[in-house]
Amino acid sequence: MKRITTLQIQARKDQDEQIVMLTAYDALSASLAEQAGIDFLLVGDSLGMVVLGYDSTVPVTIDDIIHHTKPVVASTNRAHVVADMPFGSYQSGWQDAMKNATRIMKETGASSVKLEGGTRIAETVEKLVQSGIPVMGHIGLTPQSVNTLGGHKIQGTTPRSAVKLISDAKSLEEAGAFSIVLETIPAALSHMITTRLSIPTIGIGAGPYCSGQVQVFHDILGLYKDFDPKHARKFVDAGQLLGDAINEYKTSVKNKSFPNSDESFFMEDRNIKLIQKMINNETSSDTIDNSSAINQSQEH
Ligand code: KIV
Repeated sequence: MKRITTLQIQARKDQDEQIVMLTAYDALSASLAEQAGIDFLLVGDSLGMVVLGYDSTVPVTIDDIIHHTKPVVASTNRAHVVADMPFGSYQSGWQDAMKNATRIMKETGASSVKLEGGTRIAETVEKLVQSGIPVMGHIGLTPQSVNTLGGHKIQGTTPRSAVKLISDAKSLEEAGAFSIVLETIPAALSHMITTRLSIPTIGIGAGPYCSGQVQVFHDILGLYKDFDPKHARKFVDAGQLLGDAINEYKTSVKNKSFPNSDESFFMEDRNIKLIQKMINNETSSDTIDNSSAINQSQEH
């Protein structure tokens, strides 16, 4: 089956169909998303926080992104997979960006890449698109700049910063970006941006007026405890469910109710007797048979 293209993503916006995007970092998250009908996946550098345990996305490397994009592509058939370009892989200029984006596309099979920034990186976006690499933009709260933004704070709340974001979005569209992530900005501003662009906007913490939404896999499933963004709805508390299940496993091992006879393998009684005969010269204390094994496990 062919993967979803940027043209098909554009068609969804044109037909007023909401675009649904989710992050994925491995075969499990990607296949769960695709089975649920989500065909627009982002291997976000958020993997640094939710998978690798860092306290920001800044330490994530090109090798990390490549390592995590490969299984996402390998375990999906239809999804358009966007690979994030990590901090330091494109900020120094379009030549480095080209080298790194080309490496990501060739080594992972990703369908496109995503870069953070507006007008400042428009030339880079233009060069990548001209060379055949589809680019998704990302403005508003750009987590790679968390150190200059002073934290994960709402952006575009003043008239001046809002106008700047509108002009950033325009620059990215003009440079050839096929879509733009709007992160943590007021809903009214994302409405202004979305209505001024022909390419789709994908919001995260940007209210309901975008062409679609993206969320972090771990946030919507309750799997990440260290950060609880206001915009993320927990559709299930899988962290609690999984924790309870692991605890039950631990208790079952300790009280010997796991494994039971259904979870064990047995050999024919005559083989047990033969083995006992063969080893009896070495030890005479080995008197286990199938029935005692079954009885033992059924006692619990
Ligand atoms: O890295 C990521 O997951 C992202 C989303 C928050 C859009 O960039």
